[in-house]
Amino acid sequence: MGMSTYITTRDALLDTQQAFDDVAAGYDGANEANPVIRWMRARTIAAITRAVAPGGHLLDLGCGPGRDAATLAAAGYRVTAVDWSSAMIGQTLRRVTGAGLEGRVRVRHLGIHQLDRLDTAPFDGAYSDLGPLNCVPDLDEAARRLAAQLRPGGVLVASVIGRLCPWELVLYSARRNWTRAAIRFAPGLVAVPLNGRTVWTRYVWPSEFESAFAAAGFTRVSLCALGLAAPPPYLEGFAARHPRLLSALTRADDLVGAWPGLRQWGDHFLIVLRAS
Ligand SMILES: C[S@@+](CC[C@H](N)C(=O)[O-])C[C@H]1O[C@@H](n2cnc3c(N)ncnc32)[C@H](O)[C@@H]1O
Repeated sequence: MGMSTYITTRDALLDTQQAFDDVAAGYDGANEANPVIRWMRARTIAAITRAVAPGGHLLDLGCGPGRDAATLAAAGYRVTAVDWSSAMIGQTLRRVTGAGLEGRVRVRHLGIHQLDRLDTAPFDGAYSDLGPLNCVPDLDEAARRLAAQLRPGGVLVASVIGRLCPWELVLYSARRNWTRAAIRFAPGLVAVPLNGRTVWTRYVWPSEFESAFAAAGFTRVSLCALGLAAPPPYLEGFAARHPRLLSALTRADDLVGAWPGLRQWGDHFLIVLRAS
């Protein structure tokens, strides 16, 4: 894992696209086998269904293999799902068709940075699960483009990779791997390896994320940490070996994750914003 000295936006986007194309076929299976990811996903889905009533039209930003889009469509929402990886879009199409949900889910191969090409505005809400917004080259621009797609009062529910993951700090400091321990504090895009390729990732504090969206007219509805007491998803081996401990830790997250002073930490954070 290394910091970027210089990468063009175009190259960063292409690297990231290639990385996700390569892993698309096995992605959903791996994520569903990971108890931490399953818990994080459940929290995000609950936040979406609290914020938008069934029947509403949702925009899935970075849908990956389409698990959330299918879940929400089955729960009565209409969903437009977009992703920058054509292989991920292929997986979503297969899932939606297989479940007979084509009438409720529209699938488009489109980057979040290209939202201006979407013609179905206004949406009642948008969501982005497990970090697609960390891969967007210009978050301010993405916020403006999203604002143009949402109806006034529409919401964004986003689970975003944060900067201060307590587990990671302890783990890598104990191993005296200071570079790795500090990686999330890098400004700008960081080269994160995925299966021999690179996902260009911008780690953000909730406050940085919120200011990009505030400039586009969004205000915060709620914020909580996701993965504060609970370990990050890449410690799935540990999580699988200690199911009772994992459930105690996720309960602790559920209890204290929204506390001021704690909610800006965590492997991810879950933020709900409302468009003006
Ligand atoms: C960690 S996966 C999460 C996928 C999905 N939201 C889920 O919960 O399973 C990140 C996804 O973001 C997509 N992505 C990365 N950069 C993107 C961009 N600029 N625009 C749209 N999607 C992007 C990737 O192709 C990948 O499918």
